[in-house]
Amino acid sequence: MADMATAIDAEFDRLLTVPNDPRARLYEAMRHSAIGGGKRLRPLLVHASGSLFNVSRESIVRTGLAVECIHVYSLIHDDLPAMDDDDLRRGKPTVHRAFDEATAILAGDCLHDLAFSVLADAETHADPFVRCDLIRALALASGPAGMAGGQMMDLEAENANFDLPTTTRLQQLKTGALFGFCVEAGAILARLPEEGRRGLHGYARDLGLAFQIADDLLDVEGDAGSTGKAVGKDAAAGKATFVSLMGVEEARTRATMLVDQAKTHLAAFGPEADLLRAIADFSVSRRH
Ligand code: IPE
Ligand code: IPE
Ligand code: MG
Ligand code: MG
Ligand code: MG
Repeated sequence: MADMATAIDAEFDRLLTVPNDPRARLYEAMRHSAIGGGKRLRPLLVHASGSLFNVSRESIVRTGLAVECIHVYSLIHDDLPAMDDDDLRRGKPTVHRAFDEATAILAGDCLHDLAFSVLADAETHADPFVRCDLIRALALASGPAGMAGGQMMDLEAENANFDLPTTTRLQQLKTGALFGFCVEAGAILARLPEEGRRGLHGYARDLGLAFQIADDLLDVEGDAGSTGKAVGKDAAAGKATFVSLMGVEEARTRATMLVDQAKTHLAAFGPEADLLRAIADFSVSRRH
């Protein structure tokens, strides 16, 4: 994780040179959110899946960077007053706090754009068909059928009484879709045919859900010091989560079960999938 964090920080630093003109504030806001923080778990997942198929380091880091761009943009917007209204992110003031709301909206927009320009660049992969596949997969995972759709359901969850199947779908879109992209990216970069990806799809689906249940548990049981963000927000907003629906103990049991299930999907792989297995264990044992 530390190695990936260093690589991602260096890439963001290189791509986000602050210009000496009135756009400087926008670049500074992007740097504030993108550099120096976060677990970089999504890029690590790209690495873990890419390593199954001997994908090059450069392809992995650039694809990981693209998904981290989408993730950071989603966090900037998630923290805005119109959404979760949070002041702390990754142990620092949120972008709209450190800068202002308009700048935060633009910084999010530009990170979203950066994701696709990174994927479209030949440095990411020599084959334009592979690059196009990556772009399509990330666009699907980010838009209304993925992360943004899940965020919409999450806002609705404050006023509606969502049942377990609806909450599961919410979490799968909000968090699971981007995880799905990360795991699929390794297969796309290696030009693996669709049939070979089934186990990876199953792994990503269970992992994404387990990861979001852990996030919801941290919101109840964690503290701002270790998570780097305010806690107790979901209950205060009256949000339906696995924890609100089934209680802390059952949610934890469910998360552990999902991790076991995720690892079962990797049965066809040997030790080359150990990092994917370790990520699954980490996703629920983590304290941040
Ligand atoms: C937080 O994601 C938002 C969710 C989708 C739960 P992470 O827990 O991966 O946040 P960072 O990247 O480490 O800050
Ligand atoms: C946000 O979920 C997931 C995103 C797509 C940004 P949360 O609202 O639970 O994430 P945190 O707890 O603020 O990190
Ligand atoms: Mg939210
Ligand atoms: Mg939030
Ligand atoms: Mg949360």
